[in-house]
Amino acid sequence: MADAEPYEPTIPDLRDPIRAALDSVLDVARPHTDGALASYIPELTRADPEALGAALASVRGSVHESGDSETTFTIQSVSKPFVFALALEQSGLAEVIRHVGVEPSGEPFNAISLEPATGRPLNPLINAGAIVMSSLITGDTAAEKFAIIHAGLNAFAARELDLDESVFESEHATGDRNRALAYLTQSAGTLGSTAEVATGAYFRQCSVSVNARDLAIMAATLANGGRNPISGERVIGEDVARWTTSVMTSCGMYDASGDWLVHVGLPAKSGVGGGIVAMQPEEFGIGTFSPRLDARGNSVRGIVMLRTLSERYGLHMLQHRGAPHSPIAQLERDDRVEGGGDTIARLRGEVFFAGAEEVLTRLAPLVGDGGCLVLDFSNVTRVGDAAAALFRGLPDVAGLGPDGRPRVAVLDPEGVLVGDA
Ligand code: DON
Repeated sequence: MADAEPYEPTIPDLRDPIRAALDSVLDVARPHTDGALASYIPELTRADPEALGAALASVRGSVHESGDSETTFTIQSVSKPFVFALALEQSGLAEVIRHVGVEPSGEPFNAISLEPATGRPLNPLINAGAIVMSSLITGDTAAEKFAIIHAGLNAFAARELDLDESVFESEHATGDRNRALAYLTQSAGTLGSTAEVATGAYFRQCSVSVNARDLAIMAATLANGGRNPISGERVIGEDVARWTTSVMTSCGMYDASGDWLVHVGLPAKSGVGGGIVAMQPEEFGIGTFSPRLDARGNSVRGIVMLRTLSERYGLHMLQHRGAPHSPIAQLERDDRVEGGGDTIARLRGEVFFAGAEEVLTRLAPLVGDGGCLVLDFSNVTRVGDAAAALFRGLPDVAGLGPDGRPRVAVLDPEGVLVGDA
């Protein structure tokens, strides 16, 4: 009797359907064996070209892994958005953008180009800008700057990451082009330290060892507005997370950023170690690993995995998701009041600016000289800050009717209009 065919599940594994989805995406990427390992230092050619892994971390703190998700590789340029975030957290946006622009360069990662008028590198995700970011981190020596960067990367990953000493030695020994970029920014007045200190910190940061799971958690921290969903630690502020992911959106894939935005549509960053991070704001972070790179230095299979995930599951951040539910669940009249009945608007769900606009526009004609419009937020689960401010001010703006009763009243037993403390 012939051997039985291996069992192929036809329904997702109910123990972890997300892992099953990742497994299937890895299967799509596996046959893509084109591209080549980064070879500018011998250490990177020692990676297993067949290694393939992915992980997804949700903002609620669950992690799903597939393939070689625990295989380590050096973070390389994937460190850049996180060090940009640390520089922003430390010095603020105004100070940081005195040193670096936020414009896509449309150029390779190691391009020798500065903005003519200001001497700033075009953005913090090309090497010139990344080296300037490392130079801004507090510390007089490369080791002091790196200690802060390392602690920051650990906080993003929710674990202590190792430094790959042999990759660091080689980066240091072969990094003359990066030194040239550092000297160029030094002469333009945008570097925050000496060129040697800046590149010393930068070479170390590129040599930090991570796996796909780490990258997923780091990206999930950005997706979660700067709070690590695994450790619960607030690593960076919400504004910093938004500025960082903005630059990842426009510049994360170097001269392939426009193509990436159209086909994948997730803020992302690649590195020559074979890693890519991507994230969906408020939902999840993803890390992928496959070390063969295309001509632009981006992982070939990483691109296939993320594009497949995005297309299959409608993950493009600008995907049209249909008209949102109206927040107005029900309008009730209460005619027991003399001189004009009250109207009770029962609201529901999550109310952000567009929902508030609908409530205010549809219900404004009901605010008159008779009766009170009661906005009942009992079944509202969340209100955006701007929407909450609009609603909170409404009773005062509407004032009192001729009978001395308020024209608008707000019922908010759960305190959803008060906002996060
Ligand atoms: O700066 C370099 O040359 C490398 N250590 C890092 C570059 C990198 O990862 C570019 N990304 N695709």
